[in-house]
Amino acid sequence: MTQLINLAYLVAAVLFILGLKGLGSPKSAPRGNLTGAVGMLIAIIATLVDHHVLTFGWIIAGMVVGGGIGAYIARTVKMTAMPEMVGLLNGFGGAASLLVALSEFIAPSASSAETMPWTIALALSAVIGSVTLTGSIVAWAKLQGYAEKAMQLPNQSLLRVVLGLGVLALSVLFIMNGWGFILFLLVVVALFLGILLVLAIGGADMPVVIALLNSYSGLAAAATGFVLMNNGLIISGSLVGASGIILSQIMCKAMNRSLGTVLFGGAMVSEEQMASIPGKEFYEGKVKSCGAEEVAMLMENAQKVVIAPGYGLAVAQAQHVTQELADLLEKRGIDVKFAIHPVAGRMPGHMNVLLAEAEVPYDKLIEMDNINPEFSQTDVTIVLGANDVVNPAARDDASSPIYGMPILDVDKSRTVIVIKRSLSPGFAGIPNQLFINDNSLMLFGDAKAVLQDLVRAVIEL
Ligand code: TAP
Repeated sequence: MTQLINLAYLVAAVLFILGLKGLGSPKSAPRGNLTGAVGMLIAIIATLVDHHVLTFGWIIAGMVVGGGIGAYIARTVKMTAMPEMVGLLNGFGGAASLLVALSEFIAPSASSAETMPWTIALALSAVIGSVTLTGSIVAWAKLQGYAEKAMQLPNQSLLRVVLGLGVLALSVLFIMNGWGFILFLLVVVALFLGILLVLAIGGADMPVVIALLNSYSGLAAAATGFVLMNNGLIISGSLVGASGIILSQIMCKAMNRSLGTVLFGGAMVSEEQMASIPGKEFYEGKVKSCGAEEVAMLMENAQKVVIAPGYGLAVAQAQHVTQELADLLEKRGIDVKFAIHPVAGRMPGHMNVLLAEAEVPYDKLIEMDNINPEFSQTDVTIVLGANDVVNPAARDDASSPIYGMPILDVDKSRTVIVIKRSLSPGFAGIPNQLFINDNSLMLFGDAKAVLQDLVRAVIEL
């Protein structure tokens, strides 16, 4: 029986890997998703057959309650709240690992071999699970706007080092002696460490944190797999951990940060940078606004138009009308492309998902590095609910909190039309020089409503 179950886990693992490979391209992504889901079904069935402690009654009750809550959340969560939900789900993964570690300590299951490696795995599962849990709650609160973007406590770096060393020392003590109260202390210190690791990170750096917490939740699950001696959990946890680290690295590259700084929870936004952020006076008397008709007239003479979408596109759910506008412009012989910044929106691939939903052809979506050299030959760039990812301060102003983050060089186009509702800042909370540049025009309003006006105006040309 054990051999059959391990074979099932192996098949599931192969399907997971094939599924991940499929997710590498938009065309094969639906098939990849399905492959991964079949793998998960096989893994779940194998685990159910292999159950040791719980009766099927408990298992089914858990599935009904958990599945019911999950289905309810999935149906009611707004598309714009997806990033917060993903952030929170990472935390649930961490919490599950922590709880399994604690319950295994209190009442080890029959399959557990209480050896030194088992105790190490138990400590790892508890520590990474705790850090993931509280870190994810802080990240969720920041995305939700409940917590300050970047918070600095007095002596925060020192505190982090002390807590880190505390976790290390308590882990060694627990592994050597197996004392329950040390495990309890270890969990408490790790929970605080999770808070401190994420508290200082803010501004435009949150994407890296989300990817990293996702990776931590996988590593916690892998450690739990060793505690439970469950090969399926070890493999799937390792895959999540590894893919999360790869994603973190991609995000770091996109933000021009080093993974080391993020891993050790470095404060990426200094207090001086926060203090130097200008207020509302930044824009006074310098903004030029326009209407949909004026923009339509600009299109009359344009040959090349680039649309640079951001988080506002998701809020307005303007993807379908955007595609309608792009179609109209193309019918007039204009070359239309979409400029995709890797951290536009609030989750990796946010813009790709939205635009794919509106069936924008994939070859029209051009990654940042490829589109940037094209802006100088672009007649009109429409900045659609984007802000931080087109802020020239990231390129030109060394005192800016987002300095060093690569941006879409939209300001190099002949004319830039910025569509947003007001002069409010984006996620990083800083003003944008782009809005007062000579070649920029603001088109104020909800992206969907404004684009509908623009479509009408272009039809009437
Ligand atoms: P942001 O800088 O957040 O700016 C979005 C802009 O959209 C806002 O300035 C807002 O201005 C506008 N907006 C909101 N609702 C709108 C609507 N209904 N119609 C029109 N405009 C609307 O977005 P971005 O440029 O995409 O940059 C993303 C930011 O989020 C970066 O700082 C990034 O680091 C961070 N972040 C990204 C991720 C990932 S993984 N992508 C995760 C966490 C954080 P108004 O209010 O004036 O309309």
